[in-house]
Amino acid sequence: MGVVGIIGGSGLTRLKNLQINNRRVIRTPFGETSGPLTFGLLGGQEVVFIARHGYGHTIPPHLVNYRANIWALHHVGVAHVIAVAAVGGISVAMQSGVICLPDQLIDYTSGRPSTFFEGGESMVVHIDFSEPYCPRVRERLLQAAGTADIAVVGGGTYAATQGPRLETKAEIRRIEQDGGDVVGMTGAPEAVLAREIGLCYAPLSLVVNPAAGKSAEPITMEAIDAVMHEGMERVRKVLEQAVPL
Ligand code: HPA
Repeated sequence: MGVVGIIGGSGLTRLKNLQINNRRVIRTPFGETSGPLTFGLLGGQEVVFIARHGYGHTIPPHLVNYRANIWALHHVGVAHVIAVAAVGGISVAMQSGVICLPDQLIDYTSGRPSTFFEGGESMVVHIDFSEPYCPRVRERLLQAAGTADIAVVGGGTYAATQGPRLETKAEIRRIEQDGGDVVGMTGAPEAVLAREIGLCYAPLSLVVNPAAGKSAEPITMEAIDAVMHEGMERVRKVLEQAVPL
């Protein structure tokens, strides 16, 4: 099925069970990727891994070069992408520790370069984005979770905010009224660009905190880290079952 691309987010800057073959810096028309692409085998399947925030987690969500990352994955022959991300939980089903496979997206980000089609030579193109995520990758992730005996919520709306600050309670109330179930800072324009360039892309989200106003406690990095560590172990297991795609 070709090489599977895995984009790692916070808490997943490397894949423990990846047998690494090599790392390559890819030059792109959009500048530097978040880091070199890591090529290797996961459960015998060829995968390409990239850490969205850099391998040292130094690039904040609004400064990730999404165009370079997506262009590079496409350039090396990736067809399917699994995009891992930590998110805040909004709806009741999305408690801390829950793994969610969103099926819809609302984009609240602003000012990010968010298209490959800038007019001129690259044309004016309006992609169909009614279904933002690839049904094939989503189905595979669902099956993989079943095989690995790991509980997941098989749908939900991902709300992408600008960050890097967390949201206000009122913002989360608004997002909830809009239908948002989880909130993160990287889901857009990453998913948009993947669709524009023809990559089959789906998110795998781990809820690491109750979103603003959803708990009496303030949101602390310590609390997030505690959930992240154990949760990303389950995410890794799902990934290992999901390839080959
Ligand atoms: N909001 C936005 N992004 C996030 C959150 C949150 O509460 N938690 C993890 N990523």
